[in-house]
Order: sequence, then structure tokens, then C-alpha cells
Amino acid sequence: MRIAVPKERRLGERRVAATPETVKKFRALGVDVAIEAGAGAGASIPDAHYEAEGAEIAGDFAATVSGADWVLQVRAPEADEVAALPSGVHLAAILNPHGDRAGIDALAKAGVIGFAMEFMPRITRAQSMDVLSSQANLAGYKAVIDAAAEFGRAFPMMMTAAGTVAPARVFVMGAGVAGLQAIATAKRLGAIVSATDVRPAAKEQVESLGGKFVMVEDEETAEAETEAGYAKEMSDAYKKKQAELIAETIAKQDIVITTALIPGRPAPVLVTDAMVASMKPGSVIVDMAVEQGGNVTASAPGETVTTENGVTVLGALNLPAALAADTSALYAKNLLNFLTPLIDAESGQTKIDWDDEIVAGTCVTRDGQVVHPALKEQGGED
Ligand code: NAI
Repeated sequence: MRIAVPKERRLGERRVAATPETVKKFRALGVDVAIEAGAGAGASIPDAHYEAEGAEIAGDFAATVSGADWVLQVRAPEADEVAALPSGVHLAAILNPHGDRAGIDALAKAGVIGFAMEFMPRITRAQSMDVLSSQANLAGYKAVIDAAAEFGRAFPMMMTAAGTVAPARVFVMGAGVAGLQAIATAKRLGAIVSATDVRPAAKEQVESLGGKFVMVEDEETAEAETEAGYAKEMSDAYKKKQAELIAETIAKQDIVITTALIPGRPAPVLVTDAMVASMKPGSVIVDMAVEQGGNVTASAPGETVTTENGVTVLGALNLPAALAADTSALYAKNLLNFLTPLIDAESGQTKIDWDDEIVAGTCVTRDGQVVHPALKEQGGED
């Protein structure tokens, strides 16, 4: 069995899908590993470190994937790369199936057996394979660090001979994996932190981190969480009540970090222009949902917007890539944990139980078809 790890070519993508540590583990399972030259550079991993653990270094994408049984990537391959993939190869990556349906159709056509790592079921057995969690955790941290860097004031309260510096007020919207890490990071920096979510289960988690929970609680919130632990889209009546509460809260904040997502749907709009207009000059907003349409109407993907009243809105793109050394290490471990049970101990070859919940939950293309139920319902180009 042979695993190929190409260099990521998407703009700004610094992560890599394998580390010397995971190469060593794959080699111990009797698997050959080919790494494209320079694949680890963005994550500060020289080729020589992969070679030292038994990987072969290949000159370009085509040479890397040639003869591979598995291709491991962070992001989906680009169209010209798909053309170079061997038919029948397995591919594990963050494939963005809801956002890039054409890309999924192309993988099916090319005969690639594609696994979308973001579809990993949220079951105990799959926790160590959960790429959304591993990446969102560090992204939540980075969002607060970016906000602090942009903020022209301090986070902690400081008592000095020349006077007292007031602590910053940080409001985190969406208390999932990224939000909880944002709360913890802002607390560590000494801010006064509050947070909101539509899932009542988030209350205890926010409070255990020392945050104040702000939420509209009604009969709808009892059913706001899906069986998979994700949020549902709320009714217009709920959204109106939520907007009123948020408007009151936001006017008093220095920093707002928004993380609210609904799988397969555009991100809910939580912060309107009027709310931003009510904030103090110098306040900073980080919209972590900007790639899914944004939680903040004033945000723009990849841009720093300064509003008329002096509020800075950061449209954070691919925050995990900004911490590529750590996020690559965790992502590579997620892939190792996903792949290991799919390698037959005796033959050293791929052996897949297609009925397994983790396999069925993540497999999006097989035998030339789009096979995932969530995508079949949605329909593609054919
Ligand atoms: P996510 O990235 O899909 O969404 C972020 C947060 O935004 C969620 O907490 C969601 O409830 C919230 N949100 C959505 N719409 C909102 C709105 N209109 N207003 C305010 N907040 C809104 O979620 P994430 O971070 O992936 O986590 C979802 C849940 O899954 C959490 O309870 C988390 O603890 C759980 N989880 C379970 C795992 C497991 O059992 N293996 C692994 C990771 C997370």
C-alpha cells in the first residue's frame, strides 16, 4: 500500500496532511509514503525530516500520486490535479462538499473514492478523527489573538501609578468548539467575557470557562440542537428576539468574535450594520463565519473593514492555516486515526467495511457516483 501527500496549492493554504510523526506510524504499518517536495514548508517541516522517518520525496504532484492507493490532502485537489489522480485512488481531505459541488462531481467522474473529513460523525469512536474540532479549536484561539493585535487597548485590567486601565469586554457568538476556545483565550488574557448560542447545552460550558451566558430561551431552544450536536436554523420570530438581546449586549462590547455555523446552510446573520454602528470607536469584530456567508453584514472575506464609527471588522479567512505547524500536526493525526482501521493488519492493504458508520458518514464519491445521502438529495450537475 502506498500513501501520497501532495503539496497544498490553494491560495494561502500553509498546512500539510502528514507530519514526520505520522509518516513514522504509517511506515510501522508497512505502508510506503511519498511526500511532494516542499509539502511541509508552510508548516515549518523540511523534506529531510520526512525522509528521516522513511518517506520518499517526489518532485511534483503527478510523481507524488503515481501508483498511490491513498492521497491525503488538507483541501480538495484543484481541477488539473484531479486529472492526474489514478482512477480508483482513495482521497481523504476537507472537500467542502456543500460549498463545492462541482468539485465533488469531478472527483466522482475521475473514479476517485473520496472521503470528506468534515462529514466525520460526532460519535465517541470518531473523536480522534474529527478535523472540524481540531482545526476550529486553534482557529478560535487565533481569532482572539488577531482581535487583540488590532485593538488599540489592553485586554487585562491594569492598575498603575498613572491610573487604571479597564479590562476589555469580549462577546463570543456561537459557543461551539471555536467559540469555547475563544472564550478560554480571552479569559486567559484577562478580558471580561460573555457568550451566546442557540443550544442550551452551551450555557454550562460557557460558565465553566468563566464566561457569562447570554441567550434567548424559549420553547424553540429546547429543540435547537440536532442529534449530531449541531445547531438548526431558527425561526424568524426567534431571530427577532435574539437580535433585540444581541443589540443591547453588543453596544457595551469592545471585541466581538462570531463563530455561528449551521452545517450545509449559509451562516446566520447575527450582527447587523445598526448593531455595529452602536459600538464604541476602536472596537474590533472578528467574523469567523465569513467563508460561509458571514455572521456580520459588514464583514468581507479576507478583508479588514473600518466602519464610519471606527469599528474594525476582520473577515478572517482560513485561520487554521495561520497556525500551520500546530494545525497540521493535529490534522495529520486525525487522518492517521481515520486510516489506521482501514488498513488490514495481515495483508497491509486497504480493507474497508462500507457499512461502518465512519466510512459511510464520510464517503462522498465511489464507483463513479456521488454516494453520500446529504449530497444525493441536493443533486449535482447530472
Ligand atoms: P459549528 O461550528 O457548527 O457552529 C458553531 C456554534 O454556533 C455552535 O455552537 C452552534 O450552536 C452555534 N450557532 C449556530 N447558529 C447560531 C445562532 N443563530 N446564534 C448563536 N449561535 C449559533 O459547531 P461546532 O463547534 O462544530 O460544535 C457543535 C457541537 O458539537 C458542540 O456542542 C460541540 O461541543 C459538539 N462536538 C461534539 C463532538 C463529539 O462528540 N465527537 C466533537 C466536537 C464537537
